[in-house]
Amino acid sequence: MIQAITDRRSIRKYKPVKVPRECTEEILEAGMLAPSSKNRQPWKFVVAEGSAREEALAAMERGLAREKLCPLLPESAIFLSDAWHTLSVMKQAPVIIFIANTLGVCLNRPQTVDERVAEICNAQSIGAAVENMTLAATELGLGSLWICNTFFAQRELCEWLDTDGELYGALALGYADEQPAARPRKSRSDAVEWRSK
Ligand SMILES: Cc1cc2nc3c(=O)[nH]c(=O)nc-3n(C[C@H](O)[C@H](O)[C@H](O)COP(=O)(O)O)c2cc1C
Repeated sequence: MIQAITDRRSIRKYKPVKVPRECTEEILEAGMLAPSSKNRQPWKFVVAEGSAREEALAAMERGLAREKLCPLLPESAIFLSDAWHTLSVMKQAPVIIFIANTLGVCLNRPQTVDERVAEICNAQSIGAAVENMTLAATELGLGSLWICNTFFAQRELCEWLDTDGELYGALALGYADEQPAARPRKSRSDAVEWRSK
């Protein structure tokens, strides 16, 4: 097994230590080396550091506050407190990389079946990129957290991003200040079905 795959954890406590620029560059490179459907490479990475990071966090906070009064995701209200927790983690992480799907369409716009298939393929491509990035971070001795709770602040964060497409999530990066145990996984018999004839 590749060591980084077994060692990687979602990290929710970070040390207040700067991440060297070369490390962030290498992690971005790992993302860009991911496979993608039709080689469309539907990703755009926006690295938020310093005051840009503060602005992004403020946009997310506005979104979460708005979500309670005027929800974009009314059926997901039970997860809103989890999103506030994610925001508190993001506030500790020295680097946050926002990941947009440049070919994504507005969340509440109806899609044709073809568009939906393209969206699923693009989502998988972005997932491959983010996974590469988490593994590269692990290899470099950095902790990371893959974040989709940004969707609760989709409107505010997309305004802040001001880029084509839709925000798909974020990756928090920094030096871990915790060593979580491996989280449980489905058993092999639940997750895998062998069919051999
Ligand atoms: C697509 C995706 C979105 C996620 N979003 C969040 C999030 O918004 N906040 C959070 O704390 N964790 C988030 N996680 C982390 C998961 O909770 C975590 O991967 C899972 O519990 C397994 O733990 P592990 O990563 O340590 O193995 C996300 C993970 C993935 C793959």
